[in-house]
Amino acid sequence: MKPRIIKTNAEKPGEEILEAAEYIKQGKLVAFPTETVYGLGADALNEKAVRRIFEVKGRPADNPLIVHVSRIEQIYEIAEPNDVAEELIEKFFPGPLTLVMKNKKVPKIVTAGLETVAIRMPNHKVALKLIDYSSPIAAPSANKSGKPSPTKAEHVLEDFNGEIECIIDAGETIIGLESTVVDTTVYPLEILRPGGVTKEEIERYFEVRFAEEVGTPKSPGMKYRHYAPKAELIVLVGDGFFEKALEVAKNFEKRGKRVGIAGLGIKGENCFNLGDSLQDFAKNLFKALRELDKKCDLIIMQGVEEKGLGKAIMNRLKKAGKIYRI
Ligand code: TXA
Ligand code: MG
Repeated sequence: MKPRIIKTNAEKPGEEILEAAEYIKQGKLVAFPTETVYGLGADALNEKAVRRIFEVKGRPADNPLIVHVSRIEQIYEIAEPNDVAEELIEKFFPGPLTLVMKNKKVPKIVTAGLETVAIRMPNHKVALKLIDYSSPIAAPSANKSGKPSPTKAEHVLEDFNGEIECIIDAGETIIGLESTVVDTTVYPLEILRPGGVTKEEIERYFEVRFAEEVGTPKSPGMKYRHYAPKAELIVLVGDGFFEKALEVAKNFEKRGKRVGIAGLGIKGENCFNLGDSLQDFAKNLFKALRELDKKCDLIIMQGVEEKGLGKAIMNRLKKAGKIYRI
């Protein structure tokens, strides 16, 4: 089965989204864009449809999915946000923030049997329209388990051609890294996965810490290897990245390895320029891994300071490769 590919305009999606919504209503799988990465969606209340997400993605059953909503009322229909969650919803929804709260009626298959459910409202017109026309949508990132997340429809097709019914193509996603996952059932709040909303932004309103620093068992998903290209990935953190990377590359090339370098503001053969800001870095990170992976045995990537968005970037890089200080 070749997926039906529906092209749309990210800023002005039209009635073509109705066709994708029909697939969701019929219990089929639809990959769709959000502001973070592409998601692989199914009707969140349809157990059979959700089961197929786990199957095609190769996702362990103990790793719960995020439920995506398009209106605040939908949250109250399926979950029970507390006061803190309500305030975070008011400040950050729609946006790259996922809130873990008490579950009300989302099936166990979505929550991996937990008493809680993770909910987010994407800040993307296509995603919002799709949900509006169908139902709340359970969706992980639309990549095979373990692979870099997709920031373009082409990435989804690379991983799932022949396995899903529909892909909505609205071009590249904006942020490029997944949402921040926050547990609102504990206080101080705990960040289970750093992402598009930074700790510094949440801290303006509430006390918050990284779960990994408190020693809380992590978000189920965080224990798995992730985001990894087939090529070996090494990440160099510190000053003088490009010179060091060229030196390392030369050594490996002598031994017949094909080497790619990804960093901010770099130019040259087999070099991927990630842009000139942390935002650009986040946006281009997964694309760089996927593109260099096609032609290299070794990828050398720049590392950044673990502050602001840099925390989410380094979280992904640590899972995908080996970190070295220079
Ligand atoms: O930006 C995003 O969040 C993207 C787009 C498509 O929305 N989605 C995404 O989903 O990254 P996924 O499945 O790749 O990651 C969801 C994360 C996993 O680490 C999972 O363990 C965690 O959220 N999670 C989901 N439900 C949870 C719950 N009830 N308690 C704790 N963690 C939960
Ligand atoms: Mg994922």
